[in-house]
Amino acid sequence: MEEAAVFKNKPLVAPTAKLAQQAPLSVLEASRLLESARNDPLSYWEDIAEELFWYSGWNHTLEGELGNFRYFAGGLSNVSVNCVDRHLSQHANKVAIFYEREDGLREVWSYRQLSAEVNRFAAAMRAMGIAKGDRVAIYMSNIPEVFAVIQACYRIGAIYSVSFAGFSAEAVHDRLLDSQPRLVVVADGSLRRGKVVPLKETLDQALEGIGSVEKVVVVPRLEGSRVVDHPVPMTEGRDVFYADFVAGFGPEFPAEPIEANEPGFIIYTSGTTSKPKGLVHSGIGFLTGAYANVKWALNLQPDDVYWCTADVGWLTFPIFALVGGLAHGATLVAYEGAVDIPNPGRFYEVLGRYRVNKLFTAPTLLRMLRRAGDSYLEHTQDLELISLVGEPLDPETFYWTKDKLGGGQVFVNNTYGQTETGTAWASALVGLTPTKPGSCGHTLPGYVPEVVDEQGLPVGVGELGYLTLKEPFPSLARTIWNNPERYHQTYLSRFSGRYFTADAAAFDEDGQLWVTSRVDDVINVAGHRIGTMELEAALTNHPAVSEAAVVGLPDPIKGSVPLAFVILRAGQQKSSELETELSEQIAQTVGSYARPQRVIISSTFPRTRSGKIMRRLLRDLMVEGQVSGDVSALENPEAIENLRAELGSPTK
Ligand code: PRX
Repeated sequence: MEEAAVFKNKPLVAPTAKLAQQAPLSVLEASRLLESARNDPLSYWEDIAEELFWYSGWNHTLEGELGNFRYFAGGLSNVSVNCVDRHLSQHANKVAIFYEREDGLREVWSYRQLSAEVNRFAAAMRAMGIAKGDRVAIYMSNIPEVFAVIQACYRIGAIYSVSFAGFSAEAVHDRLLDSQPRLVVVADGSLRRGKVVPLKETLDQALEGIGSVEKVVVVPRLEGSRVVDHPVPMTEGRDVFYADFVAGFGPEFPAEPIEANEPGFIIYTSGTTSKPKGLVHSGIGFLTGAYANVKWALNLQPDDVYWCTADVGWLTFPIFALVGGLAHGATLVAYEGAVDIPNPGRFYEVLGRYRVNKLFTAPTLLRMLRRAGDSYLEHTQDLELISLVGEPLDPETFYWTKDKLGGGQVFVNNTYGQTETGTAWASALVGLTPTKPGSCGHTLPGYVPEVVDEQGLPVGVGELGYLTLKEPFPSLARTIWNNPERYHQTYLSRFSGRYFTADAAAFDEDGQLWVTSRVDDVINVAGHRIGTMELEAALTNHPAVSEAAVVGLPDPIKGSVPLAFVILRAGQQKSSELETELSEQIAQTVGSYARPQRVIISSTFPRTRSGKIMRRLLRDLMVEGQVSGDVSALENPEAIENLRAELGSPTK
């Protein structure tokens, strides 16, 4: 690959004085730590693990290699003890969660209260017969109970899996079918943009044909609420309300010692096939990684109020709030709904109400705030740190954020990670190391990345190549549920002996990481990862569609948006109604967050000689109005002219 131009002339931006003062090490110690961890990642992870609670220590720090390894083998611990119990002796009354919902509903949960709910729910699950290794599915948004239920699963060793509240019935069904849970915990609904998201009704549809589910626990969050009266459909004998499920159980229930490599949860993520894959993370490995990640990417202080705006259905929230945040005894803001309702002023209002000083979000939110205009800007004076993950951060947004939020005293820490890696492993050491506008920070201790060429040979400094990781680390997903071969095929086969991220990237001369794009068929919409194959499969399931091709189109706020091209079956008529119906088909099958910007019914696709659709050319046509680059593989050049005529003018 060519030399990367993206980081040319980008200055190093030093930590702010305030963050530097709070740093847990001196700058010299930090550079020694980075150096020693590079040479000996195992000792580094041992040191991190020793900051956590263990029932008994491990026999071997690391056994095996990528694809088949065990970290802290034989060590016994429990995530919920680390995230909740550990804080009770000193900080039982400390606020764990400031919860706020879009319609203004608010609740405050202390660590004591969280602990009581975790223990009660764990006891109730155990009484139902849920044991270590059983699956529990969760379909809720960012409500306090989701913290309790997830921590309760960790307490007894049940393997949980959260479905994003924006998923359709079909998407939830696929996940239930794959993970075969015995129990599902669902909220009756959620509020988003003033509308009810009917989670329980959607779940009822998703449950059709899922024989493994014995019980559904319903958390009533809407029924009787002051804004909306939304009766919940309950199935006799199967469904039970949360309060009835936990009735009679006390606030204490012993945690189960869990071996460090036992599975903790399954998280489904999009890839290059039409079905999402269930990544399996170990509970304790993930805890260790998330704990270290929060330590370096946020450096939480006892009085900090910290808001992670991600949804619990995406891994960012467990890493930085639900596990990593709680493991540090943090006071978290959990917000349910859209942050720009009734207008973008709402975001700033929440900051002000809780005096948030650290924020974890995605670049899309900052771009939205920037576009909304500076007239809304207020209550940001407490902000000291904004950490980000999930998608490229453009330098303009970096500078706007740095200059306008926190009175120019905020440090903008872009980080890079993946659902697979379980952590954002590139970041600044907050308060200690610099960043650059648009970079993803540098490699955190404990990780051994390398950018390589087509042959798997390391490229030079500043050269673009394929981003890989060479050594195991505790939070790396261990396998794919029900499909270990697919794990090997997807991550370990492209470059022998390495984990392949499927991202193109470069390290510059200051060690800063620059991630430029995916090299597979995954697009990133507002930080949400969407497999184009998943959308194409949804379209070709429609009886009118013969073939479909989905591409990502640049978008000033969301980074990119999906755009769908379809070819109809013989005898089908093109119409705007059909285009709308096809867009709806994606919302129904995958979820409305994946709705394409437009569905374009066309007569031909540009193809290679082997018949493969050249999606790159479709994207070029939409963006530039013409195709560029190498088109020698094109079998039917006339397709370009046809399409151009059908499309009219480009989108921008
Ligand atoms: O392409 C990279 C992009 O997001 C992908 C990971 O998506 P997901 O698994 O949903 O992320 C969960 C985060 C814990 C990556 O393969 N990505 C992530 N961070 C960045 C990024 N692209 C550019 N810059 C980033 N900072």
